[in-house]
Amino acid sequence: MRALVMTAPGGAENSEIRETQVPRPGPGEVAIDVSHAGLNFVDVMARRGDPGYVSAWPYVPGIEVAGTVRALGPGVEGLAVGQRVAAAPAGGGIAEIAIAPAALTVPLPDGLSAAVAAAAPAGLVTALLLLADAGRFTAGDSVLVHSAGGGIGAAIAQLVPALGGGRLIGTVGRPEKAAGAERSGYDVALARGEGLADAILAANHGRGVDLVLDPLGTTALDVDVEVAAPGGRIVLFGNASGTAPAPLPPAGVLLGRNLAIGGFSHRGLSAAAPHRIAAALRRILGLLAAGDLDLPVTEVAALAEVPAVHDLLAAGRGEGKYVVRLGAEG
Ligand SMILES: NC(=O)c1ccc[n+]([C@@H]2O[C@H](COP(=O)([O-])OP(=O)(O)OC[C@H]3O[C@@H](n4cnc5c(N)ncnc54)[C@H](OP(=O)(O)O)[C@@H]3O)[C@@H](O)[C@H]2O)c1
Repeated sequence: MRALVMTAPGGAENSEIRETQVPRPGPGEVAIDVSHAGLNFVDVMARRGDPGYVSAWPYVPGIEVAGTVRALGPGVEGLAVGQRVAAAPAGGGIAEIAIAPAALTVPLPDGLSAAVAAAAPAGLVTALLLLADAGRFTAGDSVLVHSAGGGIGAAIAQLVPALGGGRLIGTVGRPEKAAGAERSGYDVALARGEGLADAILAANHGRGVDLVLDPLGTTALDVDVEVAAPGGRIVLFGNASGTAPAPLPPAGVLLGRNLAIGGFSHRGLSAAAPHRIAAALRRILGLLAAGDLDLPVTEVAALAEVPAVHDLLAAGRGEGKYVVRLGAEG
């Protein structure tokens, strides 16, 4: 079978399409004939060698797939060969055949396309859990999202209305990405730079923001604290620059400003509480199938084009969500 193989830390020069051995599912695992796989910034973090993302080189990236069950490992119940599914493998998803834990594999509702479903297990699930779980979003809350122009940013923009609606403000790293973020559903998208906190407060009609979703490590944390409303929640969920995070604000600031700062990790939750990832995935697939949620995806036609898309993400030039087609629609 063919897979995208990253041979060593670096860039696209170390990504190859290779024929590799067909993997077999172990106990509690499922082998999936992949129709489509989602592309994520996490693939880029693995590719450039950020600590903790790759256990051994060569490495096959890919943490979300949709396709058809090919084989069941020992002890797997409730799934069947030939069934259409979406799943969150720990890696190895950008391949014609992927192995995923059965606990993170969910049947697809009838009629839902695999291209859209492939954006659900990591991207849309992260967006849902950031809002509804870590962020305790309730209808009418205002939400600030950094890196609003990417895949997670687009997923959050689609989910806020589906969860009851609220004012949605995004930030982007380059001015030319702002229009795309607004097209994807942000009320206002701002390029990060001088005077950002004031611009965010003005965009929220002078009020503090109820929920801040921040994948920028701690580089924007001062701004987050400045713009958060009393009772506000700040959720840190990434470290795009890969630099060492700075210390969190002192307890006195959190007390005095009535703020909560928390974290979210899809990978951490997949390992510690997979049922919560699977429940979120079921909910997302249901919303998509019912037409209550829509996520436009850019379909990459061939495996060989993936390194160039990873280049776009690495340079902060990606727009919205990308999925790659690997097999038949299934
Ligand atoms: N915690 C979790 O479980 C989890 C799960 C999925 C994704 N994430 C995080 O969520 C973020 C969005 O993920 P995505 O897959 O949707 O990717 P994406 O938004 O398409 O791409 C990453 C974005 O990060 C921003 N960025 C900031 N500093 C950067 C740098 N030094 N190099 C490159 N990009 C930089 C860029 O946007 P701007 O310049 O416009 O800000 C870039 O477009 C990522 O940081 C990712 O690690 C976390």
